[in-house]
Amino acid sequence: MTSTVYIPRELAGETRVAASPETVKKMKSLGLDVVVEVGAGELSRIPDADFEKAGARIGASQDAAGADVVLKVRRPTPGEISGYKSGAIVIATMDPYGNQAAIAEMAAAGLSAFAMELMPRITRAQSMDVLSSQANLAGYQAVIEAAAVYDRAMPMMMTAAGTVPAAKVFVMGAGVAGLQAIATARRLGAVVSATDVRPAAKEQVASLGAKFIAVEDEEFKAAETAGGYAKPMSEAYQAKQAALVAEHIAKQDIVITTALIPGRPAPRLVTREMLKTMRAGSVAVDLAIERGGNIEGAVADQITDVEGVKVIAYANMPGRVAASASLLYAKNLMTFLETMISKETKALNINPDDELVKATMLTHAGQVVHANFKPEAGAGEG
Ligand code: NAI
Repeated sequence: MTSTVYIPRELAGETRVAASPETVKKMKSLGLDVVVEVGAGELSRIPDADFEKAGARIGASQDAAGADVVLKVRRPTPGEISGYKSGAIVIATMDPYGNQAAIAEMAAAGLSAFAMELMPRITRAQSMDVLSSQANLAGYQAVIEAAAVYDRAMPMMMTAAGTVPAAKVFVMGAGVAGLQAIATARRLGAVVSATDVRPAAKEQVASLGAKFIAVEDEEFKAAETAGGYAKPMSEAYQAKQAALVAEHIAKQDIVITTALIPGRPAPRLVTREMLKTMRAGSVAVDLAIERGGNIEGAVADQITDVEGVKVIAYANMPGRVAASASLLYAKNLMTFLETMISKETKALNINPDDELVKATMLTHAGQVVHANFKPEAGAGEG
């Protein structure tokens, strides 16, 4: 029997959508039926007609009940879950850490729920890496947002009427978002510096033409996990880092923070005291606000004046470039879904031994199956 994939319109606050005309076409070619909720792509500039042309049927929210697979941007709410049939596969960014209750609800509803952000960073899964595809755009957009509220020019301009100095931009956290922020700020002509706790970041920062600023002690040299992520740093290291950063920030015009440690609250890197030392009109962007923020005083979804610095903290930065972000996100999900479809029979088949399934499957057959999020796993710190 043909399996049906349903793509809902996301709830308020989410501008992205989990399919594109390209991925609909691909799903159809794999033998799937595709139903897209009316208006699902509207905020990503994909009209219903484009989904239809690609082979989807335009449906309503009740169509969720007939779906074997639901592709989403955000974890489904209880209201959405109640509309899905037991046994359905739901693939989304599930924001699983600290959300055990929501995971248990998906298990109780009989869903096979997959958290895309837990995708392992191995070559085979690179095209399924939503953290990278979305962080890359977030890093770009952070610079664009900062430039828009910064009431000075970014590049140095030598004119007959005088010289405008280049803006000084400091990027904290040089992962995917940070590196794109560095590249974007450089293209706009800023003088860019960056910091990170992972030693591998040093060379990457330098290769983009930015200056690397960090306390490079023994702890720093060991600060990267096998998966390439940062480890939480000791209090002593954080104090040394803070002193170095405090001195550096006083001379910056724009600070962009992107520092995250998977499964933990974001490290606090910029204090009110530090912001106070920046000159009036400076701008700071906090890309870690969804996990509590790197900047003291940052308020989600607002531009807040903190000690004379405009602190921008949009929780959903990729959603502010939704038309681009959705295309990449949709492709990430499609590529993962494809691994669950048998080439011969075209039937859906979850292979519990596949390392991608092992890493991302939260719930299955009424149970929470992911080791990090089982009820006995405590707070889900992973
Ligand atoms: P992330 O989003 O988890 O964190 C952002 C950055 O913040 C990281 O570079 C992290 O080291 C840094 N950070 C954490 N605590 C900090 C602190 N106290 N001070 C300063 N910086 C701090 O990381 P993201 O962007 O997901 O990248 C992690 C690594 O994975 C990078 O090396 C990236 O290049 C690598 N990567 C590998 C891929 C693959 O092999 N397929 C795909 C994508 C990324």
